[in-house]
Amino acid sequence: MRVEVVPRDPETVATPLMVVLVASDRPFEELGALDRMAGGVLGRAVRAGDFRGRKGDRVLGYGDDREGPDRVLFLGVGHSASLTGEGLRRAGGSAVRAAEDHRVSSLALCPDHLGGAADSSRVQAAAEGLVLASWRFAELVSPDHRDGGEALAESDGATDAGDRGGTGGGTDVGDERTPPPVEAAVLVGRRAAPWEEPVRIGHAFAEGENLARTLQARPGNVATPSHLAAEAERIAAEVGLECEILGPGEMEAERMGALLSVARGSREEPRLIVLRHRGGDGGAPPLVLVGKGLTFDAGGISLKPAKGMEDMKYDMSGGAAVLGAMLAAGRLGLAANVTAVVPSSENLPGGSATKPGDVVRSRAGRTIEVINTDAEGRLILADALHYAAGWNPAAIVDCATLTGACVIALGHHRSALLGNDETLLAELRAAGDRAAEPCWPLPLDGAYRRQLKSEVADLKNVGGRPAGTITAACFLSEFTGSAPWAHLDIAGTAYGKPKKPYLRHGPAGVPCRLLLEWVRERAGR
Ligand code: BES
Ligand code: MN
Ligand code: ZN
Repeated sequence: MRVEVVPRDPETVATPLMVVLVASDRPFEELGALDRMAGGVLGRAVRAGDFRGRKGDRVLGYGDDREGPDRVLFLGVGHSASLTGEGLRRAGGSAVRAAEDHRVSSLALCPDHLGGAADSSRVQAAAEGLVLASWRFAELVSPDHRDGGEALAESDGATDAGDRGGTGGGTDVGDERTPPPVEAAVLVGRRAAPWEEPVRIGHAFAEGENLARTLQARPGNVATPSHLAAEAERIAAEVGLECEILGPGEMEAERMGALLSVARGSREEPRLIVLRHRGGDGGAPPLVLVGKGLTFDAGGISLKPAKGMEDMKYDMSGGAAVLGAMLAAGRLGLAANVTAVVPSSENLPGGSATKPGDVVRSRAGRTIEVINTDAEGRLILADALHYAAGWNPAAIVDCATLTGACVIALGHHRSALLGNDETLLAELRAAGDRAAEPCWPLPLDGAYRRQLKSEVADLKNVGGRPAGTITAACFLSEFTGSAPWAHLDIAGTAYGKPKKPYLRHGPAGVPCRLLLEWVRERAGR
């Protein structure tokens, strides 16, 4: 989506839809000129008590045929003192949904009447809401299925085919055609000049996250490890990053036996993707982002049950978020050295697959007894983390759909956060709050390490059912060397059915914007 800042009076801007944000505590008279052009609907709604500027309050008017907006939607956002970034992100999302309802492909958003509440972090959030809401995944739907999906609707038996009129739209059952994509938005206001920079940032953050969501949404037969590697190369060329791809031969040479042991069960070759953004001082140690890029997790020989297994195409969500973050870091030229590492493999039960009880040797030299081949994420991350730890990084942050136990512990609202450095953990908590991609700490003390003791190897890859998220992080901590390190378990947050106007059901792109908020904070100090 294109987003521009237009420093003008909203009533002078030609647009099919002008969404005007209204705080409950600001004088409605300020909106007089706009309301007159919209036929006075706001004044009447206020007098009738229907519109008070509360969150969710809305009233629609139509322009009067001259220059200016065709439609004006006044949207309440609540009291300006309690207005958060997330409030504006949601408002941006609601604006795009309104454009879809009216079947228009561009809109204007006017936060001018929020006064001082339209500061740079809230304007950034509004831009994010617009861009995130515009995301769709239609690349695998044929053109003749895009409008309404009538063939599908008829075959599911839920509606009477006779009611539909056969042409899609214009019948009394309502318009079920897919609305056209919303491709352009402008932020309008008299005092809009200072919004340029936050809009540039919010736009890039959200486009990065949208890329993550697209990669997530692609099914396992499309988004293979080599596909992710090709995407990384494309991103690198687009925004000027260095890209290095390791295949099985290089992994062999690097003695990445843990990563290779996971890939053995599949015909698809594994890849280890490295992207470098050099935005900081020449010799400054990098911030390293590591993302699990398991493109389909069938569990291996410890095969998963069939129900819901299709969701395991999302097991590369951590890698997708990291690639999206690199796209944005490169585009914005963030002033930090950032390196991304994405170990990527399938986990299938082929004839050469690793078996329960097998012992494999990691790059760190530690031997691992593979008790359960479904605990594969920690194996591919072990070698990736150890590889990254060799670069003397300023910090390593990994993110991974690592444990089902995390969904039990925290559900779908927060990622789990564990690590070995309190300062880094506090920074990530704060970054998650700013991005509305919140996380919450779990403990990581030595006592849990005992659950990973093996009779035949240096450690085993599962620690039993108790504290599954913690023992998984314990396992990772064995491979990070002395670097400050933190781990985000995103099994419950990377995809799902969020109830937010700027997200759709499916992939969320989490924690792409959290990572970017963190990198930007580090870059600024
Ligand atoms: N990718 C899964 C974790 C997962 C589960 C992500 C549900 C998203 C939703 C991971 O590879 C896995 O299978 N973990 C096992 C570990 C167990 C065998 C110790 C799990 O959580 O069941
Ligand atoms: Mn698994
Ligand atoms: Zn997995």
